[in-house]
Amino acid sequence: MSLLKVAAFASGRGSNLQAILHAINNGDLACEVVLVISNNRDSAVLSLAREQQIPAFHLCREQFASGEAFESRLLRVLQDAGTELIVLAGYLKKISSAIIRAYRGKILNIHPALLPSFGGKGMYGRHVHKAVLDYGCKVSGVTVHLVDEEYDSGPPVVQKCVPVEAGDTPESLAARVLTQEHRAYVEALQFFAERRVEVKGRKLLIYEKNN
Ligand code: GRF
Repeated sequence: MSLLKVAAFASGRGSNLQAILHAINNGDLACEVVLVISNNRDSAVLSLAREQQIPAFHLCREQFASGEAFESRLLRVLQDAGTELIVLAGYLKKISSAIIRAYRGKILNIHPALLPSFGGKGMYGRHVHKAVLDYGCKVSGVTVHLVDEEYDSGPPVVQKCVPVEAGDTPESLAARVLTQEHRAYVEALQFFAERRVEVKGRKLLIYEKNN
């Protein structure tokens, strides 16, 4: 089976992309990262991609005269690279509906909590973990989900739990969640790479592996 061609969108440090590349380089994930796009010129994720000879672009709305011009450039870059699946790995911008239409069911996001709790607009980074702790939750976790037109609302692909421990701070909880994020993203991607996923409305069916 051919390697699944993946484009990654990210804004920051890129530890999820790093985990994905690590799994690919170890032969544990049948994907190829063909493209990295960041809205942030100085993001670590662009350097990480370039170190590994992955085409990496700084692209953001502000560089273009209109939203349409930005979207059509993004689409062209994605299509020229042969992108089959998009992963959002800490991408802080909303994906436009034109991209969602072009890649419906083929865009994944990772959220550092158990959706549908603690998701939606403004729920990112430290805010998520602080809200989990303020609520007094005993567990938190990670959700890899399909992207649709709303924030954090598409069907889950993989979810993993972590305990909330006495004395946790948003930072300590974030670190515990992050270790599971790296596992969850690789697991979710492998389902797509093995073409084992079917989307039926809100349900994502994951078929058994053919031996
Ligand atoms: C992760 O916590 C992810 O859940 C969220 O943004 C963060 C990105 O971290 N969407 P990194 O850039 O992959 O290290």
